[in-house]
Amino acid sequence: MDGNGRWATARGKTRLAGHSAGVEVASDVVRYAIKYGIPYLSLYAFSTENANRPKAEVQGLMRLARSAFAKSDKLNEQGIRILISGTPQGLDDDLVRSIGLIEKSTANNRAITVNICFNYGGRRELSDAVNKIIASGVKSVDEQSLRNYMYHGELPDCDVIVRTGGYMRLSNFLIYQSSYSELYFTDTLWPDFSENEFLRVLEYFKGCKRNFGKV
Ligand code: IPE
Ligand code: MG
Repeated sequence: MDGNGRWATARGKTRLAGHSAGVEVASDVVRYAIKYGIPYLSLYAFSTENANRPKAEVQGLMRLARSAFAKSDKLNEQGIRILISGTPQGLDDDLVRSIGLIEKSTANNRAITVNICFNYGGRRELSDAVNKIIASGVKSVDEQSLRNYMYHGELPDCDVIVRTGGYMRLSNFLIYQSSYSELYFTDTLWPDFSENEFLRVLEYFKGCKRNFGKV
């Protein structure tokens, strides 16, 4: 979900105002996903690298996360199950607690599963997985069983990954789960992402011939 800062700057607003607008659009996109029958949606909300931004911006993002994670009533009304992927390391205790609470209080919702990648890094997920394997005493894993050590191994691989904001890179997003993902890049800044563009992504995905390495 890239481009919040540029969107705000172009309007003479603060970067944080851009992030606020971005949160609104994220919740719109969850609605589109439900409307068009998408069972799983992952949102890259805050990366382990984002933690190195100026303190005021990080604090502002944490404030937005706090208020988003406190909205379990609204999520339950819409049938949204929330999973959070990421490391608790470096997060304030109350935020870690609210992550546990929101997962628990939305666990029985069935309209959609929204995986919020928060304080998330793909390499970090892999090193955390290796440490879980060592701690468990398991002596070997294979490509499939490795999945069980991810933050949420019950999630399927990503079918299609959308990056807004003009750059064509994955920036440490879901490394294990994106091996065969279709990639959709757009110059649209995240706060401008619309239902029409969501539909364009679905059209793009429908047009992809998925071989998974076969012919
Ligand atoms: C992405 O928007 C949102 C987060 C990292 C939380 P940016 O903040 O990276 O926006 P630009 O790239 O500066 O426009
Ligand atoms: Mg950016």
